[in-house]
Amino acid sequence: MTAPLHIAVIQGSTRDGRLGPVVANWLLTHAAERPDLTADLIDLAETPLPTVFPHLGQAPERAEDRALLAAVSPRLAAADAFVVVTPEYNHSYPASLKNAIDWHGREWQAKPVGFVAYGGFSAGLRAVEHLRGVFAELHAVTIRETVGLQGVWGKFDESGRAVDPAADTAAKAMLDQLVWWGEALRAARAHKPYAA
Ligand SMILES: Cc1cc2nc3c(=O)[nH]c(=O)nc-3n(C[C@H](O)[C@H](O)[C@H](O)COP(=O)(O)O)c2cc1C
Repeated sequence: MTAPLHIAVIQGSTRDGRLGPVVANWLLTHAAERPDLTADLIDLAETPLPTVFPHLGQAPERAEDRALLAAVSPRLAAADAFVVVTPEYNHSYPASLKNAIDWHGREWQAKPVGFVAYGGFSAGLRAVEHLRGVFAELHAVTIRETVGLQGVWGKFDESGRAVDPAADTAAKAMLDQLVWWGEALRAARAHKPYAA
């Protein structure tokens, strides 16, 4: 039997009063219902990363900065696949998310990335389009099926359930594709280490 795929769900927004946790918890509920997945939530507000970088390829000098990275990097490395939960900020995605992406390299390689995006008018889709190019540079594979929640403040009830069943359908479609790619790439990495 195939071992469940281990995914890291990265919650990108860190703003006071953010809606990100509602969206991420809804997605985690979907993940929990599936026998083919285990999920780890990485909330960038709870595990913030330094914003001053060392020389390329070097570890940060400050022990505090190394400790911040130690709370995130091994969890990304352990993941077979990722779901990025991102709002749209000013036609793109939040700086907190770019910072977390840029701190890492090999952790992303030859792994799939799915998106749950949300926003106002945009449904977060411009954030996703920017992220696709970033993850291609990092040798990751982005998933075609995307969850996009337009006017996110009206999309969940008080229990955190999606008001529109189409959102649940979209989450399932994205996770189905993520699992397909995640299993395929996990097997490929085991067969032959990815050379980048
Ligand atoms: C700084 C900022 C910029 C935003 N820019 C956009 C935008 O360009 N397009 C859009 O559809 N919504 C935009 N919004 C609306 C957000 O996507 C929406 O408020 C969402 O809830 C933000 O995610 P958060 O609550 O997890 O922080 C913006 C919100 C903020 C705070």
